[in-house]
Amino acid sequence: MASFAAPVSSMDAAAALCLVLILATTTTSPVYGQQTNNGGCITKERDALLSFRAGIRSDPQNLFSSWNGRDCCQWSGVRCSNRTGHVVKLDVRNGLFLDDIYRSWYSENPHGMRGNISSSLVALHHLEYLDLSGNYLSGVDVPIPGFLGSLQSLRYLNLSSMDFHGKVPPQLGNLSRLLYLDLNNNWNHNSYGMMLHIEDISWLLRLALLRFLDLTSVNLSAIGNWVQVVNTLYNLRVLRLRRCGLVFPQTPTVHSNLTSLQIPDLSDTGFHTINPTYWFWDVGTIMHLDLTNNEIAEAFPDAMGNMTSLEVLHLGGNHLTSIKPEVLGNLCYLRVLTLWSNLINQDISQFLQGLPHCAWSKMELLDMSCTNVTGEIPRWINQWTDLSTLQLSSNRLEGSVPSEIGMLGKLKQLYLDGNYFNGSISEEHLDTLVNLEELDLSYNSLHLMISSNWIPPFKLRRAYFPRCKMGPHFPLWLNWQKGVVYLDISDAGIVDNLPDWFWSVVSNVQYLNISFNQISGRLPRTLEFMSSAVIFDLNSNNLTGTLPLLPRQLAELDISRNSLSGPLPRNFGAPFIEELLLSENSINGSIPTYICQLQSLLVLDLAKNLLAGHLPVCSEETKKLNRSIRALVLYENNLSGEFPSFLKSCSELVLLDLAHNNFVGELPAWLANKLPNLSYLRLRHNKFSGSIPGQLTQLEHLQYVDLADNRISGSIPHSLANLKAMIQEDQTIWNPLVWSYERPANPDTNDSPKYDDSLAVVIKGQDLDYTSTIIYIVGLDLSCNSLVGEIPDELTSLVRMNNLNISHNQLSGRIPEKVGSLRSLESLDLSFNELSGDIPSGLSDIMMLSKLNLSYNNLSGRIPSGNQLQSLIDPASSYIGNNYLCGTPLSRNCWEPDVTRGDIEEHQDEAKYFYLGLAAGFVFGLWLVFIIFLFRSCGGFAMCGAMPSCWARLPEAQGLALQLRRG
Ligand SMILES: *[C@@H]1O[C@H](CO)[C@@H](O)[C@H](O)[C@H]1NC(C)=O
Ligand SMILES: *[C@@H]1O[C@H](CO)[C@@H](O)[C@H](O)[C@H]1NC(C)=O
Ligand SMILES: *[C@@H]1O[C@H](CO)[C@@H](O)[C@H](O)[C@H]1NC(C)=O
Ligand SMILES: *[C@@H]1O[C@H](CO)[C@@H](O)[C@H](O)[C@H]1NC(C)=O
Repeated sequence: MASFAAPVSSMDAAAALCLVLILATTTTSPVYGQQTNNGGCITKERDALLSFRAGIRSDPQNLFSSWNGRDCCQWSGVRCSNRTGHVVKLDVRNGLFLDDIYRSWYSENPHGMRGNISSSLVALHHLEYLDLSGNYLSGVDVPIPGFLGSLQSLRYLNLSSMDFHGKVPPQLGNLSRLLYLDLNNNWNHNSYGMMLHIEDISWLLRLALLRFLDLTSVNLSAIGNWVQVVNTLYNLRVLRLRRCGLVFPQTPTVHSNLTSLQIPDLSDTGFHTINPTYWFWDVGTIMHLDLTNNEIAEAFPDAMGNMTSLEVLHLGGNHLTSIKPEVLGNLCYLRVLTLWSNLINQDISQFLQGLPHCAWSKMELLDMSCTNVTGEIPRWINQWTDLSTLQLSSNRLEGSVPSEIGMLGKLKQLYLDGNYFNGSISEEHLDTLVNLEELDLSYNSLHLMISSNWIPPFKLRRAYFPRCKMGPHFPLWLNWQKGVVYLDISDAGIVDNLPDWFWSVVSNVQYLNISFNQISGRLPRTLEFMSSAVIFDLNSNNLTGTLPLLPRQLAELDISRNSLSGPLPRNFGAPFIEELLLSENSINGSIPTYICQLQSLLVLDLAKNLLAGHLPVCSEETKKLNRSIRALVLYENNLSGEFPSFLKSCSELVLLDLAHNNFVGELPAWLANKLPNLSYLRLRHNKFSGSIPGQLTQLEHLQYVDLADNRISGSIPHSLANLKAMIQEDQTIWNPLVWSYERPANPDTNDSPKYDDSLAVVIKGQDLDYTSTIIYIVGLDLSCNSLVGEIPDELTSLVRMNNLNISHNQLSGRIPEKVGSLRSLESLDLSFNELSGDIPSGLSDIMMLSKLNLSYNNLSGRIPSGNQLQSLIDPASSYIGNNYLCGTPLSRNCWEPDVTRGDIEEHQDEAKYFYLGLAAGFVFGLWLVFIIFLFRSCGGFAMCGAMPSCWARLPEAQGLALQLRRG
């Protein structure tokens, strides 16, 4: 759950506090007198505000609804001075922005205004406070307007979380009265990285009054002297330089001027030392120090022990190895300590003992996730009475969870996931945790022993129990968790019916995972009422019914491996769905045209159902499916018709699997033009006919092609040598099917979870696992068709190929001499063709080869020996059915050192006798072959597809899931 478990930053709370202080100063400033004005506002300023409003194209929160009437001082977000009547404050921030982050991935800041900032604002000469944050008031390549520098009364300027690009205007240096400047640009990234940059920072020297400066994600990498400049801002209380690409000086800092600094944030900066000679702050005043995600690899310097004002210390995401908590012995105000992803490598009791005893009862947040701590949680943890967050995820902690945890009455967040805890969690652990909001016990060997009539004292927002034992009965206490937002009870050993109340309890979830249980019950007809739902994972249960009407915001749905039946509804809702996985159910009927309208769809997996009929023809109006879809997986249904033409507009398609259906007709030549990203094409066991279009070889990402068991005729195109992805060994693997989330494996056991648990997509079939390893699969399977002619020499240039199967065709001629250059081959099957001549000796150079089948051809001569050919699986069967082959592993000797075809023909009679001699031994083998021939008739009879020789050989699934990164 790490992806959902980002700890709430208490730094933000601190910043808010600081802001309140500053506002207090602002409002008590002498500008305001006791006199009141006559009401109404100054016309010129009113006009300026109206021009500003005119620049805004959309106002989703209706902030401007009160902007009418003469008195602009009454408009929302506007404040005037009581004494002068001038507008002193304009605040149109989008306060929902931060709440929205998660959603905004799907719908891009839906609550923000859009438009641009009218320069009419400069008429507001008396403006002291301007907050436009969280709105999109720029446009492509538009910088922060320089005219803001003429608002010389400004004391507060907040332009954070906006969409500006380019250079920060040095005119901001004219705002010499500024106390607060926030240009935090953290959510404004594109593929090129940071959007705002500063090349010359000297204008900051003129902002000597500045108390708060936030330049998060503003690129400062071109600035060498930032320490000197910042060091002159001696009034600074808060300095945030997170993710600024800072260049740190090689020489130690001369002297710190920042005697008031309380909150330096240097997270994500590449900071590599906490050696105090490089500090440009004063040791005694620092209250919050954030050095998260840096390169610090040294021991705590003793000077840290003198940071006695320190309340909050963030050191997560560094490379600290020998952390001696004793150094911090004097930090009696310490409330928050985060150390995740450093290697503490100690017993947890020992480590906690070292932390300042004077702070034990004040500590609110302790995060030691992924720090390789061992041992048991000490029972005296109950002395940490103020603890509200305890994060111990992904360590090597063991033993039982002490019931003393239950005495930490202020606990809001408890994360114990990914350890070796065993034993049980009982009511005693939980009965007094009245404030608990987040609980993660997943991936341990914990048993939740809770009686069916227990009423929990808490209301969880996040509840994670994957791989806890909660069953076999459905945990009834969940009935009291209405309001839960993230719920994961996957793989919890529940073998029960889904209770009636379930859907109402989870009616507010964003994330729901009940997968890998044996939960039965009928899905409701509609889940539309779950208006917040984004991700549902219900896979591998016994759920029945038809696909319900889905929640509108749903982005991912996995109900694979259940017992859904009936047809797909004509309109099943979820218009923004990205991943729809319904494989291995009993869904029948045809695929509705509705899928053409799913414009965000990335993955559609309907494999192994009873779907029939033609695929929808997406008409021009409904054709929105285009562009986005990356994987279309429909194997093992009864679908029919020609190669789906709606794919013409799916230019992002990477993976197409139509195997085991009844598709007919020729493979279209437009494949190459219209699907330029296609990497995996699997069409086996259909009734496709015609020849292999030469254009196919223009697909430079194509690395896996399976056309086996169709009615394809003609010859293998020579242009195959163009398939770049099968050739270029060292090209960085082009992988649009990338990992978006990987749960950290247990550091020692490497025990990665057997399924993904959040944003993942798993597409698994019986014979082909679309796992992460798919990017290493390079292969060509043209078996069981009616291909004729010779094997083109060019085939041997596809050196990345690890699987080549062209068996069961009518190919003739010789095996290409250079077959040995296919050095990645693990499996080579040329059986059941009419190939003749020698087996090229280069075959023995293929070091990876473990399966070779050349049986039932007309090959002749000596079987090459050596290297890998000695260690084949079942070597004898690789060669049977070739009358003129000799040498080991066949028991037929070669009479001459160089047996040629001619020689053999001379000795044909002898060969016949030889066969007769062996006949008895081959009876069983021949009978098998007979059976195979009987059922073969590759063009039509289904048996061929079930023949082991026709199955693609692919690396074992590694339990990792294929995932697609959104966007
Ligand atoms: C200005 O006047 C309003 C309403 O009369 C009052 O609420 C507010 O406190 C006054 N502000 C100052 C700074 O005096
Ligand atoms: C400290 O600040 C003062 C006033 O801004 C400045 O003149 C001086 O150069 C600064 N000292 C250092 C070491 O930066
Ligand atoms: C800590 O402060 C004390 C008293 O000011 C001082 O003597 C000592 O040198 C400081 N320690 C370090 C490591 O800076
Ligand atoms: C974790 O700590 C143990 C000692 O407790 C050590 O042997 C092991 O190497 C550590 N693991 C890592 C990844 O450093």
